[in-house]
Amino acid sequence: HYDLILCWSPFCYQNAKRVTSVADSLNVDFAVIHKGRKKSNEVDCMVLVGEVKDRVAVLIDNMADTCDTICHAADKLISAGATDVYAILTHGILSGPAMSRINSTFFEAVVVTNTIPQEEKLNHCPNIQVIDISMILAEAIRRTHNGESVSYLFSHVPL
Ligand SMILES: *[C@@H]1O[C@H](CO)[C@@H](O)[C@H](O)[C@H]1NC(C)=O
Repeated sequence: HYDLILCWSPFCYQNAKRVTSVADSLNVDFAVIHKGRKKSNEVDCMVLVGEVKDRVAVLIDNMADTCDTICHAADKLISAGATDVYAILTHGILSGPAMSRINSTFFEAVVVTNTIPQEEKLNHCPNIQVIDISMILAEAIRRTHNGESVSYLFSHVPL
């Protein structure tokens, strides 16, 4: 059971809308992390809006490469009193320092899909978990080929 879902709002209304609909369907609250930039040469600052103290927080993003952002966000959540932090990422590029950053951040788990092969990375990072989406892609191709509804898959996930 998760208490809280989090999203980014880097000037992106679409992201916030998507996360509120996920949060609604799971019947959990949500919070927002604004990624601000004071000046172009200054370090990103993050502003957390929402109550995370004593709660389990789930960070959602569509992709993560070096994981600088999600690791900073996780630190922010922990220092704001979150008990556990999970990250769920669609595309886990996880290049360069990503794995050692994830290792040294207090993530319960970082969950990615296998749109990018992850076997290698699993050996270097014990808290990465992988969701296999091959059946979803196969079914989307089959449905497209047969002229059937693809949006059916938004609510019916083949496993
Ligand atoms: C991450 O930590 C595990 C042990 O918990 C270690 O085996 C692995 O080498 C570390 N990976 C990196 C990239 O630091």
